[in-house]
Amino acid sequence: MGALIPRPRTEIAPGAVHVPGWLGAQRQRELVAACRSWASSPVPIRHTRLPGGGVMSVQTVCIGWHWQPYRYSRIAHDVNDQRVAPFPDWLADLGRQALIDAYQDPQAASAYDPDTALINFYEGQARMGMHQDKDERCDAPVVSLSIGDTCVFRFGNTESRNKPYTDVELESGDLFVFGGPSRFAYHGVPRVFPGTGDPITGLASGRLNLTLRMTGLADW
Ligand code: SIN
Ligand code: FE2
Repeated sequence: MGALIPRPRTEIAPGAVHVPGWLGAQRQRELVAACRSWASSPVPIRHTRLPGGGVMSVQTVCIGWHWQPYRYSRIAHDVNDQRVAPFPDWLADLGRQALIDAYQDPQAASAYDPDTALINFYEGQARMGMHQDKDERCDAPVVSLSIGDTCVFRFGNTESRNKPYTDVELESGDLFVFGGPSRFAYHGVPRVFPGTGDPITGLASGRLNLTLRMTGLADW
C-alpha cells in the first residue's frame, strides 16, 4: 500500500490482467472485517481435507456456495453441516467493477453475477499448488483480491501445471482477473513473504485472498 512508484496494469496472458493497488485502504479494512466475520460463522474457516487424505496448508471459508474438493454445495457437509453465509450484493458489485477496470471495458461486466467466493488465509508456510479452477459450470472470469502479505502468484497455461508460467508478485490491494482464454489456466501460490503486509488493513499478519466466481449452479 502507498507505493512510491505506481506499478502498471499488466496483461499477463490473454484475458489475465493484474491491476496493482486496486483496493484502497478503507476497502481492504472492510473486506478484512467481513472475512473475519465469515471465518467464524456460520461455517468456521478450516484447512480443507483432500480426498487423498492430505490437508491443505491454506485455510478456507466460503460464502454463497461451499466448495469442497471437487464440488459446490449450499451446506458445508465436511465442516459443520451448516449452510454457508449468503453472497452479498455489495461484493457482486465489487466484482463487476473489477472486470470493468481490469478489461477497461464498460460492457465487460454486463452479464457478470458472481455467486460464490472462496476466502483463503495463508499463514506461516502456507502455499497453494498449481491447479485449475474448474468446478464451476460457467466460464465467466474469476476475480481475485489480495490483502496482507505479498505473495508470488504463479500463472501458467491451460495444458499442464508445468512451464510456461509467469510469476507475478501480488501485494495488498492488488486485483487479478482471469477470464477468456485464461479462465482455465493452471495457477498457484508457491511463496508468501511474511511480514510484508501493512497492519493498517486490520490484518496483523498473513495473507488473505478472495476469489469471486460464477458457479453456473442453481438451487433446485
Ligand atoms: C486460488 O487459486 O484459489 C487462490 C489464489 C490466491 O491465493 O491468490
Ligand atoms: Fe484457484
